Amino acid sequence: MSAYLDPVRHDRERVALFRRVPLLVGRASQLASPGDFFTHDASGVPLLIVRDDAGTIRAFLNVCRHRGTRVEAAPCGAKKAFVCPYHAWTYGRDGALLSIAHPSGFAGFERRGLVEVPCAEIAGFIAVAPSPDAPPIDRTWLGPLADELLGFMPASSHVYAPTVMSKAMSWKLAIDVFLESYHLRPTHKQTIYPLFFDNLGLVDRVGPHLRNVFPKRSIRELANLPSDTWELRRRANVLYHLFPNTLVLVEPDHAAVLHLWPQGPDRTLLTSYTLVPEPPNDKARAYWDANNAILYGAIEEDFAMGESIQRGLASGANRDVIFGAFEHALAHFHRQIDLHTQ
Ligand code: FES
Ligand SMILES: [Fe+2]
Repeated sequence: MSAYLDPVRHDRERVALFRRVPLLVGRASQLASPGDFFTHDASGVPLLIVRDDAGTIRAFLNVCRHRGTRVEAAPCGAKKAFVCPYHAWTYGRDGALLSIAHPSGFAGFERRGLVEVPCAEIAGFIAVAPSPDAPPIDRTWLGPLADELLGFMPASSHVYAPTVMSKAMSWKLAIDVFLESYHLRPTHKQTIYPLFFDNLGLVDRVGPHLRNVFPKRSIRELANLPSDTWELRRRANVLYHLFPNTLVLVEPDHAAVLHLWPQGPDRTLLTSYTLVPEPPNDKARAYWDANNAILYGAIEEDFAMGESIQRGLASGANRDVIFGAFEHALAHFHRQIDLHTQ
């Protein structure tokens, strides 16, 4: 139970998981051209992520090397250079310090560029380990899931409808609620349950990650169709948990990406978006928006349970939390947290 409540454990996990493990902070398609950038703060570390002139995506601490001011304030944009608002030290797209105002006062500091942190493109995602001491990112981090994800959502997929919400629960609870289908009938009875079976899901553990397949009732129709016409994503939801804090829900013609960021032992920020094949016109927007309304309706039902659990555990009623036989994906997730935190 301390997994969800203990502030000391929380701090330890934030350092071990959210500074050193590759975190998926966005999509490479968001930075199409040199100079395109976005800033990212949800991990607790201010990051500036930019495509440099050679076309490489790089990540820097968004912190001026003079006195520490935030260098780039905008959430995203395109720039030739990044100018600190305080005394106008100026950094290039590669993080190099380009100019110091009145440089005679700072002889010897001409090479003090932005601090770079490990960054890599994996399966169309931008992965960052937001600490200058973190090891370089292993491009095989997602193992065989990288090709699977690219098969479902090409690197060129468009990021649509980015969303942010804040919830009163541990980031781990916010992930737990997605990792089993035992809750589907009672929690989602009036919404998505009619599409699925009661308590039926397949789980594969893939390294620290998880692949969950939740078949839809319509999968039974495949028995009468030739197997070369079968398409899993049309007959099941495929939900990946990419350790530690990303969920990717593959639906028939798009995917939803959710990142859960701890803000405290009982506070989580969700940043999410929908990956669609191309930038939508008005008609496509209406279609994706209708899809998202169903998805976020179900997510609110899940998060209501998560917030309820957080309040319940804080009461001290339960000394431990039971993961039953249908909940072994949760056990895997928590085991991986322990392994990476030791
Ligand atoms: S703090 Fe950035 S230029 Fe002085
Ligand atoms: Fe759910």
